Amino acid sequence: MLDFACSAVGNGRILRSWLVFLVSMVLLLVPVASTQTRAERGQPAEPVLAIGRGATEDRFTANQLLSRPDAVVLSVTGDVYHHAVAYRAVPLLALLGNSVAPNFDTVEAEARDGFVSEIPFALIRQGASGGSVAYIAVEDIAHPWPPLPQKTQTAGPFYLVWQNPEKSAIGGEQWPYQLTRLSFAESPVHRWAQLAVPADTAVDAPARHGQEVFITQCLPCHRLNGGGASDTGPDLERPMNPTQYLTEAGLRAIIRNPRAVRAWPAQQMVGFSKDQLSDVDLDALVAYLRTMAIASAGCSNNPNDLSCGRK
Ligand code: HEC
Repeated sequence: MLDFACSAVGNGRILRSWLVFLVSMVLLLVPVASTQTRAERGQPAEPVLAIGRGATEDRFTANQLLSRPDAVVLSVTGDVYHHAVAYRAVPLLALLGNSVAPNFDTVEAEARDGFVSEIPFALIRQGASGGSVAYIAVEDIAHPWPPLPQKTQTAGPFYLVWQNPEKSAIGGEQWPYQLTRLSFAESPVHRWAQLAVPADTAVDAPARHGQEVFITQCLPCHRLNGGGASDTGPDLERPMNPTQYLTEAGLRAIIRNPRAVRAWPAQQMVGFSKDQLSDVDLDALVAYLRTMAIASAGCSNNPNDLSCGRK
């Protein structure tokens, strides 16, 4: 009995000193914890979208964007979730503002996976006069969007979406998801002269239209002659242009559906259906690639010269 009482008293004292110790540890830790950033506490840092305007840059957190008075809820067609998701979104034009030098006529949109779309600023501005309207959809980390098709990640935290994409014929590669940065830039042919068809190319030559198609649909992942900002896919000119080692039918098949030509688990390129790339656009693209092969090889226009991208 006595033993029991003594040990009970003893345990009570030990318990009390433990409590004092624990409380003082907690008090010691609290101020430290509150000055730590989310990342230091092991939580993911709050996502940030950077907007570069030449020498200056603004940075917006997801919460800052979501609490803007011009934030709306919208559902769009043509997005990666096939309009199953209601986005909370901010009008892109309002975010970008208008205060840039006139030669910075392109908005470069960089994504986390290395995809880089070069979007004409005029296309975004058309939204104010009856064209498709661009928004930055912002994922709320408390209510994440569904995973992307065949992927584990979502399209968030920032996704450039278009309302009424048909009004300005928005291309499939002009919907960059997992955005990290938007910045004003000079147009691609000014930054990378090697993307331009030779000056003596006829004004109405399909290759000229093909150059536009390439910049919109292929440049987000492929460089050409080193020109471009993405290394997601191979350079389509260096060291060899695909018109020089693929048959025309093979090249067209890869563009329409790469898996119809060769397939492996890590394959990334998704093909372009006729809705995304018309037959006229595809013809123009092949003409462009062939023109560029001839130009960079310094070849004559001799159709019998087999080393110059001709078959
Ligand atoms: C979303 C990124 C992406 C886009 C957009 C894209 N490609 Fe690709 N492409 C790739 C990747 C990555 C590869 C390498 C193979 C793979 O992983 O699919 C590739 C491979 C290729 C190849 C095969 C090259 C070889 O020798 O293996 C050709 C040709 C090609 N792309 C042409 C095009 C054309 C033309 C366009 C525009 C209409 C285009 N690609 C748009 C990512 C892309």
